Amino acid sequence: MSLISVQSARCKDAIGSQVTIQGWVRTRRDSKGGFSFIEVNDGSCMANIQIIADADLDNYESEIKRLSAGCSVSIDGEVKPSGGGKQDTEIHAAAVTVHGWADPEEYPLQKKRHSFEKLREWAHLRPRTNTFGAVARVRNCICRSIHNFFQENGFLYTHTPIITASDCEGAGEMFQVTTMNLSDVPKTDGKIDFEQDFFDRPSYLTVSGQLEAEIYATALGKVYTFGPTFRAENSNTSRHLAEFWMVEPEMAFYELSDNMDLAEAFLKRVFSDALSQCAEDMDFFNQRIDDTVIDTLTQIADKEFIRLPYTEAVEILQNSGQQFEYAVEWGRDLQSEHERFLTEQHFDGPVIVYDYPRTIKPFYMRVNDDEKTVRAMDVLVPKVGEIIGGSQREERLDVLKSRMQEQDLEPESYWWYLDLRRYGTVPHAGFGLGLERAVQFVTGMANIRDVIPFPRTPGSADF
Ligand code: 4AD
Ligand code: MG
Repeated sequence: MSLISVQSARCKDAIGSQVTIQGWVRTRRDSKGGFSFIEVNDGSCMANIQIIADADLDNYESEIKRLSAGCSVSIDGEVKPSGGGKQDTEIHAAAVTVHGWADPEEYPLQKKRHSFEKLREWAHLRPRTNTFGAVARVRNCICRSIHNFFQENGFLYTHTPIITASDCEGAGEMFQVTTMNLSDVPKTDGKIDFEQDFFDRPSYLTVSGQLEAEIYATALGKVYTFGPTFRAENSNTSRHLAEFWMVEPEMAFYELSDNMDLAEAFLKRVFSDALSQCAEDMDFFNQRIDDTVIDTLTQIADKEFIRLPYTEAVEILQNSGQQFEYAVEWGRDLQSEHERFLTEQHFDGPVIVYDYPRTIKPFYMRVNDDEKTVRAMDVLVPKVGEIIGGSQREERLDVLKSRMQEQDLEPESYWWYLDLRRYGTVPHAGFGLGLERAVQFVTGMANIRDVIPFPRTPGSADF
C-alpha cells in the first residue's frame, strides 16, 4: 500500500495498484446493490476520487453508512477503471478508517451552497470548498512562477524588513509598531517620548520593501523581494487589503523602458504558467466565476502591452464622451473607473501608463526633463485596474534631495538612501506587483478578500 494523492489516484496509470488515500468526504450515496459510493477530496486537485465501499467491510453498517460531508477518512484499496463517465478511475476499498466525524446537523458546509460573503465568516472552513481550494492552488502556482521567473533570469532573492522607520510611499498610511502602554504613554514636555519605545523611534509595518531592495540592487545588480506589506488606508473596496503580498524586483542599470519590458515578460510568464499548470482549476473559474478568464489570459500571451504616456491617457479619457464619477484632469491621479475604461473599452487589453505628474507620485521617482512629470509606470489590466506600480528611480543626489523637501520629508532620516547616490550611483528601476491583484486577475474572483486566506480590511482581522 502506498500513500498517494487523489490527483495521482485519478490517473489511468495508477490502475492496478494498491494504494492509500487520505482526505475529507464530500458526499456519500448508498446503492441498492449493497455498497456505497463515497466521494473523497484531499485538496491535491479540484476533482474527488470515487470510492466503492462494499457492504461486507466490517465497519460498513457501524461507520461507513454514517459518513457525511466533512468527515476525515483514510482509504486502503485497489485503483480500478471506473464505469462512470466522469472519471477514469475509482478505488475499491479494502478498508475505510474514519478519523473524525462532522455532525451533518451542524457542519456548515453541508450540501447548501453559500455566498462568498458568508464563507468569509468561516475562513477556517472555506478552503474545503471547490472555489477556495482552487484559489489556493492557483495562488501557489503564481508564487512558484514568480520565483522561477526571477531565479531563471539571474535575480537574487533578498529579504527586506517588515518593521521599518521609513514611509516608502510617503502617503502616511502606516501601521505603527510599539511596545508602549497605550493607556499610559511616556511623555517628555507634553510630547510622546519615543526614546522609551522599543526601537527608540517611531516605527511601522512596511508599505513596501523597495527602499531596502534598492540597497541590494546597487550592490548586487538584479534582486527581488517578496513579502507581506501593510497599508492603513481606509479603503473598503474589492481591490484593497490592509495586509497584502508584494513582489518587488529592483534592477541596477535599468531605465524605464527596460522596466516595462521586464514587467511585461514577467506577467506573461505568470499568466501562461497558471493556464498550463492549473488547467483544471482554470476551467472551473471560467465556468463558474468569469467566463472570460481563459480567453483573456490566452490573448495576453501574444499581445504587446500598449504603452501610453499619462498625458495621452488623460486626453483619451477627456475625449471619450464617457460620464465618469471622478473628473479627469491633468495632474490628478487616475481612478479605477478610468483605468477600466482604458483597458476594457478603449484598448481591450493591458496598458502601461507612464510619465505621471510629479505631484501625485512619491519622492523617489526620476524627474523627467520637462520637470513636470516623473518616470513612473503603472501596468493596468481589465477588471482589476492597476496590477503593477513602478518607476525608474531618481539617481541624482541634488534632485532627490529637493524632491524630498518638496514632499516634506527630512533628507537626514534617509541618509542611507542618499548615500546610494553619493557612492557609485547608477540609473536603476523596479516595480511592485500586488500578489492578490494578480490572483484576482487570473481567477476572475471579484473580491480581493477571496483570494487571500485571511483577509485584513478596516474593521476586520478575525482568525
Ligand atoms: O503602486 P504601489 O503603491 O507601489 C509601491 O509600493 C512601489 N514601492 C513598488 C516598487 O516600485 N517597488 O504598490 C504596488 C502594487 C500595486 O500596483 C497593487 O497591485 C498593489 O501593490 N497594492 C495593493 N494590493 C492590495 N491592497 C492594497 N491596499 C494595495 N496597494 C497596492
Ligand atoms: Mg500605485
